[in-house]
Amino acid sequence: MAAAGTTEVKMQEVKDLTRIERIGAHSHIRGLGLDDTLEPRATSQGMVGQAEARKAAGVVLRMIEEGNMSGRAVLLAGPPGTGKTAIAMGIAQALGEDTPFTSIAGSEIFSLEMSKTEALTQAFRRSIGVRIMEETEIIEGEVVEIEMDQPAAGGASEMTGKLTLKSTEMETVYDLGTKMIESLNKEKVSAGDVITIDKASGRITKLGRSFTRSGDYDAMGPQTRFVQCPEGELQKRKEVVHVVSLHEIDVINSRQQGFLALFSGDTGEIKPEVREQIDSKVAEWREEGKATIVPGVLFIDEVHMLDIECFSWLNRALESDLAPVLIIATNRGITRIRGTNYKSPHGIPIDLLDRLIIITTSPYSGKEIRKILDIRCEEEDVEMSDDARELLTRIADETSLRYAMHMIMSASLVCSKRRGTEVEIEDIKKVYSLFIDLKRSTNFLLEYQSEYLFHEVDDDDDEDEEDDKGGAQDMDTK
Ligand SMILES: Nc1ncnc2c1ncn2[C@@H]1O[C@H](COP(=O)(O)OP(=O)(O)OP(=O)(O)O)[C@@H](O)[C@H]1O
Ligand SMILES: [Mg+2]
Repeated sequence: MAAAGTTEVKMQEVKDLTRIERIGAHSHIRGLGLDDTLEPRATSQGMVGQAEARKAAGVVLRMIEEGNMSGRAVLLAGPPGTGKTAIAMGIAQALGEDTPFTSIAGSEIFSLEMSKTEALTQAFRRSIGVRIMEETEIIEGEVVEIEMDQPAAGGASEMTGKLTLKSTEMETVYDLGTKMIESLNKEKVSAGDVITIDKASGRITKLGRSFTRSGDYDAMGPQTRFVQCPEGELQKRKEVVHVVSLHEIDVINSRQQGFLALFSGDTGEIKPEVREQIDSKVAEWREEGKATIVPGVLFIDEVHMLDIECFSWLNRALESDLAPVLIIATNRGITRIRGTNYKSPHGIPIDLLDRLIIITTSPYSGKEIRKILDIRCEEEDVEMSDDARELLTRIADETSLRYAMHMIMSASLVCSKRRGTEVEIEDIKKVYSLFIDLKRSTNFLLEYQSEYLFHEVDDDDDEDEEDDKGGAQDMDTK
Protein backbone atom coordinates (compact mmCIF):
# COMPACT_ATOMS: atom_id res chain seq x y z
CA MET A 1 0.00 0.00 0.00
CA ALA A 2 2.77 2.37 0.99
CA ALA A 3 4.47 1.79 -2.32
CA ALA A 4 1.33 2.72 -4.20
CA GLY A 5 1.16 5.89 -2.17
CA THR A 6 4.63 7.05 -3.14
CA THR A 7 4.11 6.44 -6.81
CA GLU A 8 1.01 8.57 -6.66
CA VAL A 9 2.94 11.42 -5.12
CA LYS A 10 5.58 11.17 -7.79
CA MET A 11 3.02 11.31 -10.58
CA GLN A 12 1.65 14.47 -9.07
CA GLU A 13 5.06 16.06 -9.04
CA VAL A 14 5.67 15.25 -12.66
CA LYS A 15 2.38 16.83 -13.63
CA ASP A 16 3.19 20.00 -11.73
CA LEU A 17 6.60 20.29 -13.30
CA THR A 18 5.38 20.16 -16.86
CA ARG A 19 2.95 22.99 -16.20
CA ILE A 20 5.64 25.49 -15.33
CA GLU A 21 6.42 27.74 -18.25
CA ARG A 22 9.52 29.74 -17.71
CA ILE A 23 9.49 33.30 -18.86
CA GLY A 24 13.01 34.61 -19.12
CA ALA A 25 14.06 38.24 -19.16
CA HIS A 26 14.51 38.07 -22.91
CA SER A 27 11.87 35.54 -23.90
CA HIS A 28 9.92 38.23 -25.74
CA ILE A 29 12.81 38.81 -28.15
CA ARG A 30 12.30 36.89 -31.38
CA GLY A 31 14.76 38.60 -33.68
CA LEU A 32 16.12 42.03 -34.46
CA GLY A 33 12.90 43.29 -36.03
CA LEU A 34 14.47 44.50 -39.27
CA ASP A 35 12.98 44.61 -42.76
CA ASP A 36 14.74 43.28 -45.87
CA THR A 37 16.78 46.43 -46.32
CA LEU A 38 17.95 46.12 -42.71
CA GLU A 39 15.89 49.12 -41.62
CA PRO A 40 14.58 48.61 -38.09
CA ARG A 41 10.78 48.49 -37.81
CA ALA A 42 9.56 50.61 -34.90
CA THR A 43 8.29 47.60 -33.02
CA SER A 44 8.79 44.12 -34.34
CA GLN A 45 9.78 40.67 -33.09
CA GLY A 46 9.62 41.98 -29.54
CA MET A 47 12.18 44.71 -30.23
CA VAL A 48 11.44 48.36 -29.56
CA GLY A 49 13.44 51.48 -30.44
CA GLN A 50 17.26 51.45 -30.16
CA ALA A 51 17.15 51.88 -33.93
CA GLU A 52 20.80 52.67 -34.64
CA ALA A 53 22.15 49.78 -32.63
CA ARG A 54 19.65 47.34 -34.15
CA LYS A 55 20.54 48.50 -37.62
CA ALA A 56 24.23 48.03 -36.91
CA ALA A 57 23.48 44.60 -35.45
CA GLY A 58 21.60 43.84 -38.67
CA VAL A 59 24.68 44.61 -40.75
CA VAL A 60 26.72 42.34 -38.48
CA LEU A 61 24.07 39.64 -38.84
CA ARG A 62 24.18 39.89 -42.64
CA MET A 63 27.97 39.63 -42.59
CA ILE A 64 27.82 36.59 -40.32
CA GLU A 65 25.33 34.94 -42.65
CA GLU A 66 27.53 35.63 -45.66
CA GLY A 67 30.47 34.16 -43.80
CA ASN A 68 32.78 37.18 -44.00
CA MET A 69 32.77 38.09 -40.36
CA SER A 70 34.72 35.28 -38.78
CA GLY A 71 37.65 36.27 -36.66
CA ARG A 72 36.15 39.67 -36.08
CA ALA A 73 34.71 41.08 -32.94
CA VAL A 74 31.88 43.42 -32.05
CA LEU A 75 31.47 45.28 -28.80
CA LEU A 76 28.05 46.30 -27.54
CA ALA A 77 28.57 49.14 -25.10
CA GLY A 78 26.03 51.20 -23.23
CA PRO A 79 24.46 51.94 -19.86
CA PRO A 80 22.73 49.14 -17.92
CA GLY A 81 19.30 48.10 -19.12
CA THR A 82 19.60 49.53 -22.61
CA GLY A 83 19.17 46.27 -24.45
CA LYS A 84 22.70 45.02 -25.11
CA THR A 85 21.94 41.48 -24.04
CA ALA A 86 18.57 41.73 -25.78
CA ILE A 87 20.22 42.65 -29.08
CA ALA A 88 22.65 39.75 -28.80
CA MET A 89 19.70 37.41 -28.19
CA GLY A 90 18.00 38.97 -31.21
CA ILE A 91 21.01 38.12 -33.36
CA ALA A 92 20.96 34.56 -32.05
CA GLN A 93 17.28 34.20 -32.90
CA ALA A 94 17.72 35.68 -36.36
CA LEU A 95 20.62 33.37 -37.17
CA GLY A 96 18.46 30.31 -36.76
CA GLU A 97 19.36 26.86 -35.58
CA ASP A 98 22.03 25.89 -38.00
CA THR A 99 24.50 28.55 -36.94
CA PRO A 100 26.06 27.79 -33.57
CA PHE A 101 25.55 30.55 -31.03
CA THR A 102 27.21 30.23 -27.66
CA SER A 103 26.40 32.63 -24.88
CA ILE A 104 28.49 32.92 -21.73
CA ALA A 105 29.00 35.53 -19.05
CA GLY A 106 32.52 36.79 -18.49
CA SER A 107 32.50 35.55 -14.93
CA GLU A 108 31.57 32.01 -15.95
CA ILE A 109 35.05 31.03 -16.99
CA PHE A 110 36.34 31.53 -13.46
CA SER A 111 33.87 29.19 -11.88
CA LEU A 112 34.51 26.06 -13.89
CA GLU A 113 36.84 23.30 -12.84
CA MET A 114 39.35 24.12 -15.49
CA SER A 115 41.78 26.83 -16.45
CA LYS A 116 40.44 30.11 -17.81
CA THR A 117 41.95 29.57 -21.20
CA GLU A 118 40.59 26.03 -21.44
CA ALA A 119 37.12 27.37 -20.67
CA LEU A 120 37.54 30.02 -23.35
CA THR A 121 38.85 27.46 -25.83
CA GLN A 122 35.81 25.28 -25.22
CA ALA A 123 33.49 28.25 -25.66
CA PHE A 124 35.29 29.13 -28.90
CA ARG A 125 35.04 25.63 -30.29
CA ARG A 126 31.42 25.33 -29.27
CA SER A 127 30.81 28.27 -31.59
CA ILE A 128 32.31 26.69 -34.68
CA GLY A 129 30.09 24.30 -36.54
CA VAL A 130 31.18 21.60 -38.94
CA ARG A 131 28.59 20.82 -41.55
CA ILE A 132 29.11 17.22 -42.53
CA MET A 133 27.57 15.92 -45.71
CA GLU A 134 26.82 12.26 -45.89
CA GLU A 135 25.31 10.20 -48.64
CA THR A 136 23.09 7.44 -47.47
CA GLU A 137 21.01 4.90 -49.27
CA ILE A 138 17.36 4.91 -48.49
CA ILE A 139 14.25 3.14 -49.61
CA GLU A 140 11.31 5.45 -50.09
CA GLY A 141 7.85 4.30 -51.03
CA GLU A 142 4.18 3.98 -50.25
CA VAL A 143 3.21 1.02 -48.11
CA VAL A 144 0.93 -1.30 -50.03
CA GLU A 145 0.75 -4.05 -47.50
CA ILE A 146 2.37 -5.26 -44.31
CA GLU A 147 2.15 -8.95 -43.62
CA MET A 148 3.29 -10.37 -40.33
CA ASP A 149 3.62 -14.06 -39.65
CA GLN A 150 2.33 -14.96 -36.24
CA PRO A 151 5.19 -16.30 -34.15
CA ALA A 152 4.84 -19.95 -33.32
CA ALA A 153 2.99 -20.70 -30.10
CA GLY A 154 5.23 -20.67 -27.05
CA GLY A 155 6.24 -17.07 -27.73
CA ALA A 156 9.30 -17.58 -29.88
CA SER A 157 10.71 -14.11 -30.21
CA GLU A 158 11.65 -14.42 -33.88
CA MET A 159 9.09 -12.60 -35.96
CA THR A 160 9.10 -12.46 -39.69
CA GLY A 161 6.97 -10.72 -42.25
CA LYS A 162 6.77 -9.05 -45.59
CA LEU A 163 6.50 -5.40 -46.54
CA THR A 164 5.26 -4.34 -49.95
CA LEU A 165 6.29 -0.87 -51.05
CA LYS A 166 5.52 0.93 -54.28
CA SER A 167 6.58 4.03 -56.13
CA THR A 168 4.85 5.44 -59.18
CA GLU A 169 6.92 3.07 -61.29
CA MET A 170 7.52 -0.10 -59.37
CA GLU A 171 6.45 -2.34 -56.55
CA THR A 172 8.72 -4.55 -54.47
CA VAL A 173 8.28 -6.97 -51.60
CA TYR A 174 10.85 -6.84 -48.80
CA ASP A 175 11.44 -9.49 -46.16
CA LEU A 176 11.14 -8.25 -42.60
CA GLY A 177 13.02 -9.32 -39.49
CA THR A 178 12.10 -8.80 -35.86
CA LYS A 179 13.77 -5.43 -35.60
CA MET A 180 12.07 -3.99 -38.64
CA ILE A 181 8.70 -5.25 -37.47
CA GLU A 182 9.24 -3.62 -34.13
CA SER A 183 10.12 -0.28 -35.62
CA LEU A 184 7.19 -0.47 -38.05
CA ASN A 185 4.93 -1.03 -35.06
CA LYS A 186 6.56 1.74 -33.12
CA GLU A 187 6.01 4.22 -35.90
CA LYS A 188 2.48 2.86 -36.33
CA VAL A 189 3.02 2.37 -40.03
CA SER A 190 0.01 1.09 -41.95
CA ALA A 191 -0.96 0.60 -45.59
CA GLY A 192 -1.19 3.96 -47.32
CA ASP A 193 1.68 5.59 -45.42
CA VAL A 194 4.65 6.94 -47.32
CA ILE A 195 7.84 6.00 -45.49
CA THR A 196 11.59 6.08 -45.84
CA ILE A 197 13.92 3.41 -44.52
CA ASP A 198 17.56 4.22 -43.96
CA LYS A 199 19.40 1.22 -45.36
CA ALA A 200 22.40 1.46 -43.05
CA SER A 201 20.62 1.99 -39.76
CA GLY A 202 17.20 0.57 -40.56
CA ARG A 203 15.57 3.70 -39.22
CA ILE A 204 12.03 4.25 -40.42
CA THR A 205 10.58 7.71 -40.93
CA LYS A 206 6.96 8.35 -41.75
CA LEU A 207 6.60 11.15 -44.28
CA GLY A 208 2.81 11.23 -44.37
CA ARG A 209 -0.16 9.53 -45.99
CA SER A 210 -0.50 9.04 -49.68
CA PHE A 211 -2.98 11.33 -51.45
CA THR A 212 -4.66 8.29 -52.95
CA ARG A 213 -5.83 7.43 -49.42
CA SER A 214 -7.24 10.87 -48.61
CA GLY A 215 -10.74 9.42 -48.84
CA ASP A 216 -10.31 6.83 -46.14
CA TYR A 217 -11.07 8.55 -42.90
CA ASP A 218 -10.35 5.67 -40.55
CA ALA A 219 -6.65 6.14 -40.38
CA MET A 220 -6.70 9.89 -40.20
CA GLY A 221 -6.01 12.26 -37.34
CA PRO A 222 -6.41 16.01 -37.31
CA GLN A 223 -2.73 16.50 -38.20
CA THR A 224 -2.48 13.94 -40.95
CA ARG A 225 -0.19 15.18 -43.67
CA PHE A 226 -0.75 14.09 -47.22
CA VAL A 227 2.10 13.50 -49.61
CA GLN A 228 2.51 12.27 -53.18
CA CYS A 229 3.42 8.69 -53.86
CA PRO A 230 7.22 8.80 -54.48
CA GLU A 231 8.37 8.79 -58.07
CA GLY A 232 11.03 6.67 -59.78
CA GLU A 233 13.05 3.93 -58.18
CA LEU A 234 12.33 2.77 -54.65
CA GLN A 235 16.01 2.86 -53.72
CA LYS A 236 17.58 6.28 -53.68
CA ARG A 237 20.72 8.04 -52.63
CA LYS A 238 20.05 10.90 -50.35
CA GLU A 239 22.32 13.59 -48.99
CA VAL A 240 22.00 14.19 -45.28
CA VAL A 241 23.59 17.14 -43.57
CA HIS A 242 24.49 17.33 -39.89
CA VAL A 243 25.93 20.32 -38.12
CA VAL A 244 28.05 19.52 -35.07
CA SER A 245 30.33 21.85 -33.21
CA LEU A 246 34.08 21.35 -32.98
CA HIS A 247 33.64 21.08 -29.23
CA GLU A 248 31.22 18.19 -29.62
CA ILE A 249 33.71 16.39 -31.85
CA ASP A 250 36.42 17.09 -29.26
CA VAL A 251 34.41 15.61 -26.42
CA ILE A 252 33.30 12.55 -28.35
CA ASN A 253 36.87 11.82 -29.36
CA SER A 254 38.55 12.44 -26.07
CA ARG A 255 38.79 8.98 -24.63
CA GLN A 256 38.80 10.18 -21.05
CA GLN A 257 35.39 11.77 -21.16
CA GLY A 258 33.45 10.00 -23.86
CA PHE A 259 30.29 11.35 -25.38
CA LEU A 260 28.21 11.03 -22.20
CA ALA A 261 30.07 14.09 -20.94
CA LEU A 262 28.11 16.08 -23.52
CA PHE A 263 24.98 15.50 -21.49
CA SER A 264 26.42 16.01 -18.05
CA GLY A 265 28.43 19.03 -19.19
CA ASP A 266 31.27 17.64 -17.13
CA THR A 267 33.84 17.65 -19.88
CA GLY A 268 36.96 18.56 -17.95
CA GLU A 269 40.03 19.70 -19.82
CA ILE A 270 40.62 18.33 -23.27
CA LYS A 271 44.13 17.47 -24.34
CA PRO A 272 45.68 19.69 -27.01
CA GLU A 273 46.67 16.57 -28.98
CA VAL A 274 43.06 15.59 -29.31
CA ARG A 275 42.20 19.01 -30.69
CA GLU A 276 45.13 18.92 -33.10
CA GLN A 277 44.03 15.57 -34.45
CA ILE A 278 40.50 16.78 -34.89
CA ASP A 279 41.57 19.95 -36.64
CA SER A 280 43.61 18.00 -39.14
CA LYS A 281 40.79 15.50 -39.65
CA VAL A 282 38.33 18.32 -40.28
CA ALA A 283 40.81 19.95 -42.68
CA GLU A 284 40.97 16.62 -44.51
CA TRP A 285 37.18 16.41 -44.75
CA ARG A 286 37.06 19.94 -46.07
CA GLU A 287 39.56 19.11 -48.79
CA GLU A 288 37.59 16.05 -49.79
CA GLY A 289 34.43 18.13 -49.90
CA LYS A 290 32.80 16.10 -47.15
CA ALA A 291 32.52 18.98 -44.70
CA THR A 292 32.36 22.73 -44.53
CA ILE A 293 32.96 25.06 -41.62
CA VAL A 294 30.11 27.13 -40.23
CA PRO A 295 31.61 29.96 -38.23
CA GLY A 296 29.14 30.69 -35.47
CA VAL A 297 28.98 33.33 -32.80
CA LEU A 298 30.48 33.46 -29.34
CA PHE A 299 28.75 36.02 -27.15
CA ILE A 300 30.54 37.03 -23.95
CA ASP A 301 28.28 39.17 -21.79
CA GLU A 302 29.72 41.28 -18.96
CA VAL A 303 33.07 41.09 -20.68
CA HIS A 304 34.73 43.45 -18.18
CA MET A 305 34.87 40.44 -15.84
CA LEU A 306 37.61 38.89 -17.98
CA ASP A 307 41.16 39.58 -16.89
CA ILE A 308 44.25 40.60 -18.82
CA GLU A 309 45.23 36.99 -19.55
CA CYS A 310 41.87 36.23 -21.09
CA PHE A 311 41.97 39.36 -23.19
CA SER A 312 45.38 38.49 -24.50
CA TRP A 313 44.18 34.98 -25.29
CA LEU A 314 41.26 36.46 -27.22
CA ASN A 315 43.60 38.67 -29.26
CA ARG A 316 45.50 35.63 -30.37
CA ALA A 317 42.54 33.35 -30.86
CA LEU A 318 40.75 35.80 -33.12
CA GLU A 319 43.64 35.52 -35.54
CA SER A 320 43.48 31.75 -35.93
CA ASP A 321 41.76 30.50 -39.08
CA LEU A 322 39.07 28.64 -37.17
CA ALA A 323 37.62 31.58 -35.26
CA PRO A 324 33.96 32.38 -34.68
CA VAL A 325 32.49 35.85 -34.66
CA LEU A 326 33.01 37.32 -31.23
CA ILE A 327 30.34 39.56 -29.73
CA ILE A 328 31.04 41.08 -26.35
CA ALA A 329 28.98 43.40 -24.18
CA THR A 330 29.70 45.66 -21.25
CA ASN A 331 28.13 48.51 -19.31
CA ARG A 332 31.39 49.80 -17.85
CA GLY A 333 32.97 53.17 -18.55
CA ILE A 334 36.65 53.88 -18.10
CA THR A 335 37.75 51.40 -15.49
CA ARG A 336 40.54 49.17 -14.33
CA ILE A 337 41.42 46.15 -16.44
CA ARG A 338 41.17 43.12 -14.20
CA GLY A 339 44.56 41.76 -13.28
CA THR A 340 46.35 45.05 -13.85
CA ASN A 341 46.51 48.51 -12.34
CA TYR A 342 45.78 50.19 -15.63
CA LYS A 343 42.54 51.84 -16.61
CA SER A 344 41.09 51.64 -20.04
CA PRO A 345 37.73 52.28 -21.74
CA HIS A 346 35.21 49.54 -20.78
CA GLY A 347 37.96 47.80 -18.84
CA ILE A 348 39.19 46.28 -22.10
CA PRO A 349 42.87 46.58 -23.12
CA ILE A 350 43.50 49.03 -25.94
CA ASP A 351 45.00 46.41 -28.24
CA LEU A 352 41.82 44.37 -28.13
CA LEU A 353 39.62 47.47 -28.42
CA ASP A 354 41.51 48.28 -31.57
CA ARG A 355 40.32 45.04 -33.15
CA LEU A 356 36.67 45.69 -32.31
CA ILE A 357 33.84 47.46 -34.02
CA ILE A 358 31.73 49.17 -31.41
CA ILE A 359 27.95 49.46 -31.30
CA THR A 360 26.57 51.76 -28.62
CA THR A 361 23.14 51.65 -27.03
CA SER A 362 21.46 54.61 -25.39
CA PRO A 363 18.70 55.07 -22.80
CA TYR A 364 15.06 54.74 -23.92
CA SER A 365 12.45 57.45 -24.29
CA GLY A 366 9.24 57.31 -22.27
CA LYS A 367 7.29 56.06 -25.27
CA GLU A 368 9.73 53.23 -25.91
CA ILE A 369 9.68 52.21 -22.26
CA ARG A 370 5.90 52.10 -22.40
CA LYS A 371 6.05 49.85 -25.46
CA ILE A 372 8.58 47.48 -23.87
CA LEU A 373 6.42 47.26 -20.73
CA ASP A 374 3.38 46.52 -22.90
CA ILE A 375 5.26 43.69 -24.56
CA ARG A 376 6.35 42.32 -21.19
CA CYS A 377 2.78 42.45 -19.84
CA GLU A 378 1.71 40.37 -22.79
CA GLU A 379 4.65 37.98 -22.39
CA GLU A 380 3.89 37.46 -18.71
CA ASP A 381 0.18 37.20 -19.42
CA VAL A 382 -0.77 40.08 -17.16
CA GLU A 383 -3.81 42.27 -17.80
CA MET A 384 -3.14 45.86 -16.82
CA SER A 385 -5.26 49.00 -17.05
CA ASP A 386 -4.04 51.97 -19.06
CA ASP A 387 -3.58 54.13 -15.98
CA ALA A 388 -1.49 51.50 -14.30
CA ARG A 389 0.68 51.17 -17.40
CA GLU A 390 1.12 54.92 -17.44
CA LEU A 391 2.23 54.89 -13.82
CA LEU A 392 4.56 51.97 -14.40
CA THR A 393 6.15 53.84 -17.31
CA ARG A 394 6.76 56.83 -15.07
CA ILE A 395 8.30 54.60 -12.45
CA ALA A 396 10.56 53.01 -15.07
CA ASP A 397 11.64 56.44 -16.20
CA GLU A 398 12.52 57.54 -12.70
CA THR A 399 14.04 54.32 -11.42
CA SER A 400 14.99 51.75 -14.04
CA LEU A 401 13.37 49.68 -16.74
CA ARG A 402 14.31 46.49 -14.93
CA TYR A 403 12.71 47.57 -11.68
CA ALA A 404 9.49 48.34 -13.52
CA MET A 405 9.62 45.02 -15.34
CA HIS A 406 9.91 43.17 -12.05
CA MET A 407 6.88 45.03 -10.78
CA ILE A 408 4.65 43.55 -13.48
CA MET A 409 4.57 40.07 -11.99
CA SER A 410 4.45 41.18 -8.38
CA ALA A 411 1.65 43.65 -9.10
CA SER A 412 -0.26 40.90 -10.82
CA LEU A 413 0.08 38.70 -7.74
CA VAL A 414 -1.15 41.53 -5.53
CA CYS A 415 -4.04 41.97 -7.93
CA SER A 416 -5.06 38.32 -7.84
CA LYS A 417 -4.79 38.39 -4.05
CA ARG A 418 -7.60 40.95 -3.99
CA ARG A 419 -9.40 38.87 -6.62
CA GLY A 420 -9.04 41.50 -9.29
CA THR A 421 -8.77 40.64 -12.97
CA GLU A 422 -6.79 43.63 -14.13
CA VAL A 423 -3.79 45.28 -12.47
CA GLU A 424 -4.83 48.75 -11.31
CA ILE A 425 -2.91 51.76 -10.04
CA GLU A 426 -3.43 50.65 -6.44
CA ASP A 427 -1.62 47.36 -7.10
CA ILE A 428 1.34 49.18 -8.59
CA LYS A 429 1.42 51.56 -5.62
CA LYS A 430 1.30 48.66 -3.21
CA VAL A 431 4.23 46.92 -4.89
CA TYR A 432 6.10 50.20 -5.09
CA SER A 433 5.88 50.54 -1.35
CA LEU A 434 6.68 46.88 -0.68
CA PHE A 435 9.80 46.67 -2.80
CA ILE A 436 12.17 49.57 -3.00
CA ASP A 437 14.36 50.45 -5.94
CA LEU A 438 18.04 51.25 -6.04
CA LYS A 439 17.67 54.96 -5.45
CA ARG A 440 15.44 54.59 -2.42
CA SER A 441 17.61 51.83 -1.08
CA THR A 442 20.66 54.06 -1.36
CA ASN A 443 18.93 56.94 0.35
CA PHE A 444 17.80 54.62 3.07
CA LEU A 445 21.33 53.41 3.60
CA LEU A 446 22.71 56.91 3.70
CA GLU A 447 20.17 57.81 6.32
CA TYR A 448 20.61 54.77 8.52
CA GLN A 449 24.19 53.82 7.72
CA SER A 450 25.33 53.94 11.28
CA GLU A 451 23.07 50.99 12.08
CA TYR A 452 24.67 48.76 9.46
CA LEU A 453 27.96 46.93 9.56
CA PHE A 454 30.98 47.96 7.46
CA HIS A 455 29.71 51.33 6.33
CA GLU A 456 32.34 53.27 4.43
CA VAL A 457 30.55 56.21 2.94
CA ASP A 458 33.47 58.60 3.46
CA ASP A 459 35.72 56.53 1.20
CA ASP A 460 33.70 57.59 -1.82
CA ASP A 461 36.59 59.17 -3.68
CA ASP A 462 38.90 56.20 -3.27
CA GLU A 463 38.24 54.87 -6.74
CA ASP A 464 40.63 51.98 -6.87
CA GLU A 465 38.80 50.24 -4.14
CA GLU A 466 35.50 50.85 -5.82
CA ASP A 467 36.83 49.10 -8.89
CA ASP A 468 36.85 45.76 -7.25
CA LYS A 469 33.28 46.09 -6.21
CA GLY A 470 32.16 46.70 -9.75
CA GLY A 471 28.78 48.36 -9.60
CA ALA A 472 29.99 51.88 -8.96
CA GLN A 473 31.69 52.00 -12.34
CA ASP A 474 28.54 51.61 -14.40
CA MET A 475 28.39 53.87 -17.37
CA ASP A 476 25.31 55.77 -16.40
CA THR A 477 26.57 58.80 -14.65
CA LYS A 478 23.61 60.27 -12.92
N1 LIG B 1 14.82 47.44 -27.49
C1 LIG B 1 14.22 46.58 -26.67
N2 LIG B 1 13.07 46.00 -27.03
C2 LIG B 1 12.48 45.13 -26.20
N3 LIG B 1 12.94 44.78 -25.00
C3 LIG B 1 14.07 45.33 -24.57
C4 LIG B 1 14.77 46.25 -25.39
N4 LIG B 1 15.86 46.65 -24.74
C5 LIG B 1 15.86 46.02 -23.56
N5 LIG B 1 14.78 45.22 -23.44
C6 LIG B 1 14.47 44.39 -22.31
O1 LIG B 1 14.79 45.14 -21.15
C7 LIG B 1 15.51 44.35 -20.19
C8 LIG B 1 16.88 44.92 -19.95
O2 LIG B 1 17.65 44.88 -21.13
P1 LIG B 1 19.04 44.11 -21.26
O3 LIG B 1 19.12 43.03 -20.28
O4 LIG B 1 19.24 43.75 -22.68
O5 LIG B 1 20.01 45.30 -20.86
P2 LIG B 1 21.59 45.34 -20.92
O6 LIG B 1 21.93 46.48 -21.82
O7 LIG B 1 22.14 44.02 -21.26
O8 LIG B 1 21.92 45.76 -19.44
P3 LIG B 1 23.19 45.36 -18.53
O9 LIG B 1 24.29 46.29 -18.96
O10 LIG B 1 22.75 45.68 -17.14
O11 LIG B 1 23.51 43.94 -18.78
C9 LIG B 1 15.56 42.96 -20.77
O12 LIG B 1 14.49 42.20 -20.24
C10 LIG B 1 15.38 43.17 -22.25
O13 LIG B 1 14.81 42.04 -22.85
MG1 LIG C 1 23.16 42.53 -20.16
